[in-house]
Amino acid sequence: MAKFSPPPGTADIFPEEMPLWNRLEDSARRIFPLYGYGELRTPIFESTEVFKRGIGDETEVVQKEMYTFEDRGGRSITLRPEGTAGVMRALLNTDVMNGNEKRVFYIGPMFRGERPAAGRRRQFHQVGVENAGRVAPELDAENMAMMMQYLDNLEISGAKLVINTRGVQADRGPAEEMLSKYFQQHIGDMCDDCQTRVTRNVWRILDCKQACCKEIVKNTPDYLSAYSSESRAYFDSVCNLLTSFNVDFEIDKQLVRGLDYYAHTVFEVIHPGIGAQSAIAGGGRYELYLPENKKPIVGVGFAAGLERLLMVQEALKVAAPVAGKGPVFLISMGASARAFNMKLAQDLRNANIPVVVEVEEKSMKAQMRAANRANAAFGIICGDDELETGKVVFKDMENGSQEERSRNGLIEFLQTTYK
Ligand code: HAM
Repeated sequence: MAKFSPPPGTADIFPEEMPLWNRLEDSARRIFPLYGYGELRTPIFESTEVFKRGIGDETEVVQKEMYTFEDRGGRSITLRPEGTAGVMRALLNTDVMNGNEKRVFYIGPMFRGERPAAGRRRQFHQVGVENAGRVAPELDAENMAMMMQYLDNLEISGAKLVINTRGVQADRGPAEEMLSKYFQQHIGDMCDDCQTRVTRNVWRILDCKQACCKEIVKNTPDYLSAYSSESRAYFDSVCNLLTSFNVDFEIDKQLVRGLDYYAHTVFEVIHPGIGAQSAIAGGGRYELYLPENKKPIVGVGFAAGLERLLMVQEALKVAAPVAGKGPVFLISMGASARAFNMKLAQDLRNANIPVVVEVEEKSMKAQMRAANRANAAFGIICGDDELETGKVVFKDMENGSQEERSRNGLIEFLQTTYK
């Protein structure tokens, strides 16, 4: 373990890695506006009730994983474990409840107190998208098409889209009855958690990871047949639209998702190349309740985990983005040259040229080493002689070639090189 490690399940992201992260973010900022989405930033923490009511008291996330603390003034505050509830809280300040659609996307850190593992962090990052205010199968299908276009744009091949439907609230009773009846017959062979789920939350059994339960879940009766004809027609439309968009998908009746706000379509993108935490994105249509809001806010959206997208890109050996040119490194021999260089550096930066100046009195060799460490593209050497002659020594750090250049015209020359 590194000596100064950050808390378990978190990570520092150093400048060298940032081009990889920026590619994920730049791509989001390019693709989502093609579908009419604009970026929204909400606070990283919200009143705890937003998540309890929004995500559901019975979920693992709310019961076991939230970072909750008391704010000044005794308010209960929680670091956001996901983006949807907070985004909906913000959108309630607009006219979204009058059937006016809102299209937003967001990028940022989320916090869940899970057991850290490869691809599972306590602070992780998501890009997410929400379409709020209207219910239409076209919007669900378009959402998934947009998600797959985003992944394509990141050169993520081999990802599998799985979908299912949770029906609407009114459908759940008959479907739940069918499921409980079936699981009651097998209760003796199920894990302890699922034995209580049979009466408390039968849906959670469908995505239990225990081998004994998986075996029983395999033969689950077709509970979708217990849904209303409207819900089944809605799901058929979503599937037909996806087919017409040439988006490949599989229907997986075991997909229920871990957050309680879903109604109608649910979906996940799985990538087999990154081990056990293989869900790289997930989402669905929802009816989300917030404190003091008696009617739910409706919408459809998804979020992708950036750490997992990076793992997939690494597994697929997607080439790193081409790095920009390194800075110009100003090497000074003597105090007056250094004073001159500090001023020159500002002139260069004002002309949009990146510059680093060595500020310590050091040998030429030591300064050259520092230039290499800074990944400099060029070194410019200035001593007392150069100050007098108005010339500097200009070194191309890549090929090692060296020439004398006049100080006049240096900025113009570098400007064309850095264009
Ligand atoms: P979620 O499935 O909980 O959905 O998270 C979405 C994605 O975030 C996952 O597929 C995964 O890639 C990533 N993720 C989740 N937890 C972790 C973790 N501990 N470490 C690393 N990555 C993680 C949501 O959050 C919903 N808000 C998505 C949504 C938007 N539904 C409707 N709109």
